[in-house]
Amino acid sequence: MPTMTGLMTRRSGVTVAVRSKIIGVGGFVPPRVVTNDDLAQLMDTSNEWIVERTGIRQRHWVDPETTTSDLALEAANAALASAGIANEDVDMLIVATLSSDHFFPGTACFLQTKMGLSEIPALDIRQQCTGFVYAASIADQFIRSGMCRTVLVIGAEIHSKGLDISDGGRDVTVLFGDGAGAVVVEATEAGTSSDPQILSTHLHADGTGAKDLWVPSPGMAFTDGLVTHAHLERGDQYPQMNGRSVYVNAVKRMSEGIREALEANNVTIDDVDLFFFHQANLRINEAVAQRLGIPAEKVYNTIHKYGNTTAATIPLGMRDAVEDGTLQPGMLVAVAAFGGGFTWGSMLLRW
Ligand code: UT7
Repeated sequence: MPTMTGLMTRRSGVTVAVRSKIIGVGGFVPPRVVTNDDLAQLMDTSNEWIVERTGIRQRHWVDPETTTSDLALEAANAALASAGIANEDVDMLIVATLSSDHFFPGTACFLQTKMGLSEIPALDIRQQCTGFVYAASIADQFIRSGMCRTVLVIGAEIHSKGLDISDGGRDVTVLFGDGAGAVVVEATEAGTSSDPQILSTHLHADGTGAKDLWVPSPGMAFTDGLVTHAHLERGDQYPQMNGRSVYVNAVKRMSEGIREALEANNVTIDDVDLFFFHQANLRINEAVAQRLGIPAEKVYNTIHKYGNTTAATIPLGMRDAVEDGTLQPGMLVAVAAFGGGFTWGSMLLRW
């Protein structure tokens, strides 16, 4: 048996790198479907406007009893089953979410208890729509360094409980849906780039855009209290977005992220079999594909059925692509995401 020694291991006299690979993927969306027509009953919007501007046809919303850690648990269980491993094999939990069960502690701690796990590190990542890429990168670094062997990475979001369901919130509310996705990332001995592995991750942020997509309250930055009647009257507890700025930056940064991933691995667009972009708006992803010369059939979209599920989006898409046979072993897969912060990142992997 070869022994893992952090960065490198030795097999039959050949030095191979310790890398990480995705060995299982799972997802969950709550059963309640909310169509664009359903939203049009609640606010001044229409199916035509939403489909034309975003590509979204429906999204899933939780019932009042469901928490973000409940969704995370469903996705985690599915990912572990798909990997064929037990809860006890997990060395570390990373939950990417902007919609935590409570202000603190993090959702990963609540999930850990629900999974019956004790004492392994449980970490929350708050990188919004880029959350999964950040979390997968952290898992990859912990595995490459030898600190962990098996990391469970989950993106889970409940938006529906925190949206402004009125005419004033229509520009944001129609975009978002609830759901969770998860992957199991495990150490592997990668000899060449043809072996299944996470080849590279690239992470970025630009805080000058922080207030172009944010929820101001509750917050310690206020002088009148963490959350006050004045905040609630202003609607500071709801997401606020400069849609144009987010749109323009999403196209620019996801394009840059893909280029960075390809250059770092000395491959081209043609070498990539499948692209997963964050699903915020179909038009954003079409613009990225057009800018980079990516054929439409290589871009895996789920926005029509889930809306924007933020950190859950990429692993949910991977789950669906595995289930419908689009994502096959050996494929070269490129991932790019952009979100609040602003944050953005990319990942290239051999599936
Ligand atoms: O992961 C990051 C999450 N967010 C995003 O990625 C969002 C990025 N931005 C976008 O996707 C687009 O900016 C939106 C879809 C949000 C908006 O599309 P747009 O083509 O930029 O529309 P707009 O903001 O310029 O608004 C056009 C009109 C406005 O009416 P007036 O001022 O022209 O009379 C809006 O009030 O559409 C109106 N509008 C709506 N109408 C019906 C805004 N939201 C709605 C709505 N239903 N839900």
